[in-house]
Amino acid sequence: MPRISVDLKKQVKAANDICDVISTYIPVANAGKLLKAVCPFHNDTRPSLQIDRQYQNFRCWSCDAKGDVFDFVMKFEKVEFGECLRMLAEKAGIKLDTQASPQDEVRSRLLRAMKWAEEKYRACLMDEAEAANARVYLGERKLAGASVRQFGLGFAPVNGDWLVQWALREGLPTDVLVEIGLLGVRDENRGHYDRFRDRVMFPIRDVRGQTVGFGGRILPDSPLAARAPKYYNSAETPLFKKSELIYGLDLARHAGAAAGYLAVVEGYTDVMMAHQCGVTQVVATMGTALTTIHVGQLRRYVPKVVLVYDADAGGMGGVDRALELFVSQDVELAVASLPEGLDPCDLLVSPGGVEIFRLALANAQDALEFKLNILLSKENSQTVEGTTRVVDAILSMMALAPSMPSQAGAVRQELIVSRLAHRLGLRQETVWARLSELKAERRRNEQRPGRLVAESMVGDTPAPTPKASAAMAIERQLLEVLLAEPPLVSIAAASIPPEELQHSGLRRMLTDLYALEQDGHTPDLDGLRVRLMDRPDLAEAAMKLEFVGRQMNDRPEWLGRIVKRFAEQETEFAQKAVQTQLAAGSMDDAAALDLLRRLQASAKASPPNSN
Ligand code: UTP
Ligand code: MN
Repeated sequence: MPRISVDLKKQVKAANDICDVISTYIPVANAGKLLKAVCPFHNDTRPSLQIDRQYQNFRCWSCDAKGDVFDFVMKFEKVEFGECLRMLAEKAGIKLDTQASPQDEVRSRLLRAMKWAEEKYRACLMDEAEAANARVYLGERKLAGASVRQFGLGFAPVNGDWLVQWALREGLPTDVLVEIGLLGVRDENRGHYDRFRDRVMFPIRDVRGQTVGFGGRILPDSPLAARAPKYYNSAETPLFKKSELIYGLDLARHAGAAAGYLAVVEGYTDVMMAHQCGVTQVVATMGTALTTIHVGQLRRYVPKVVLVYDADAGGMGGVDRALELFVSQDVELAVASLPEGLDPCDLLVSPGGVEIFRLALANAQDALEFKLNILLSKENSQTVEGTTRVVDAILSMMALAPSMPSQAGAVRQELIVSRLAHRLGLRQETVWARLSELKAERRRNEQRPGRLVAESMVGDTPAPTPKASAAMAIERQLLEVLLAEPPLVSIAAASIPPEELQHSGLRRMLTDLYALEQDGHTPDLDGLRVRLMDRPDLAEAAMKLEFVGRQMNDRPEWLGRIVKRFAEQETEFAQKAVQTQLAAGSMDDAAALDLLRRLQASAKASPPNSN
């Protein structure tokens, strides 16, 4: 992505009249000074969407979607700001920047190498005699030629220096192929070797469909099969992060949006076969469990995730892990179980398999219900001990969730508690009490760094102490609220100096938001992202914070509470300082008492009126 300046953003915006742009997507009608349309962001028949040519913004009175031309395109096309800017610039014939940033150059160098290798592997699979076994293997798995082409499969022959030879012949630098993990370097620098041998190559694409990595599967009858893992991947690069990427998302996201969910299976072949059979809302992780980052990505396209697991032990672990995500993330989660631990791929090709698969998805069971049923089948819920174990199993997951949950999290907790109480015939108060106990226990026993969403995503701060982590929850909430409601920034700026934030990443965001406001720009996510071009990690984190913030209803009130907490904290610090000075005898009693009294009074004062 090119370097983006605030000016460039302005220029692109000025060149794209919001009415013209929106009317290329949906029918719009003149209504006096405004234009009206049926809002594409929620289910409607009436024209609740208003477009204002003068102010160059839009707003839906029904679902509250609003913003400028960038917001509309990002939301409609489901693209990130950078991509949106590129699209609109292109539309207006604005040349984006002649000089790419160093980061962009790295990216495009890696992308070019991936593309080159993909083509080599593809051509080999299609045409070469040495790929005959691979073609037989794909045929045996019933993967159709059209699927193989759609997913861009290829083959890496057994030789050991096949790709090396191609690179030398075509003058492609071997170091970049080493960097992306397709070639290795021999000991003592005696040249290069192919890291993938006798493997079917699955290109792994990002959501835009660009190949960013590969997965390689060894042929079952390969002489190498006995001493090598069945699957491995090309190297982790800035473009390819196994724990983040979702296989097939580029092809599944539209179907997912239509179906209202995306189904997550385990393997590349499972995704391919599902698509081949016409079930296209299917994606996979890279052989890892679902992470918060995965959920965050999926959540951008669908409100619900359906996990497809075979009923083996590994699958169950996945369900538990996913349940943990469910209690802390704003996502609906359901579990679809397949008969007898069959791979989706194998199931789909068996007689009647497609129907069974479709039914399993349609009948996917709510994750909490699923887990409860498993627990209840193992425990005797007639006994106190049995019931306690069931309750604890679920609640201890909740105890891991952020200590100061966002509003969405709070709603989620209430939902779970009331369902637990209902299913087990307990009073809700009892369940809440047990939850507090477990949370207290957890705080006493251990700290689990990296567990909280905000902490794991803004990773440059060391593991927090419990107190620091509570402070951080407030800091995180502050950013959630401000990002979701930029007009509140000026209020925060008047009462919370950025230096008071302990978390360096959140502090940086707040500083930049204030600076935007100062400079007369809208202190919103777009503006912030522009300023965070040097910190893509923070830009990504800001996006998630904004997302969480948008789930809250009464943001001004939240801000009021947050401001108050900051004031209290400050008073605490100041009181400590006064006491220290008193003890050291460096302040006379009368002055100290007076100061303490004033501090206490200011702490009790109500927060500034934020409405
Ligand atoms: P498995 O190793 O369980 O594959 O990995 P499988 O289902 O037995 O293999 P098939 O069906 O015969 O091909 C499950 C999936 O996890 C991903 C792959 O998508 C694989 O299909 N995976 C696994 C990776 O991406 N990288 C790995 O290193 C391992
Ligand atoms: Mn499989």
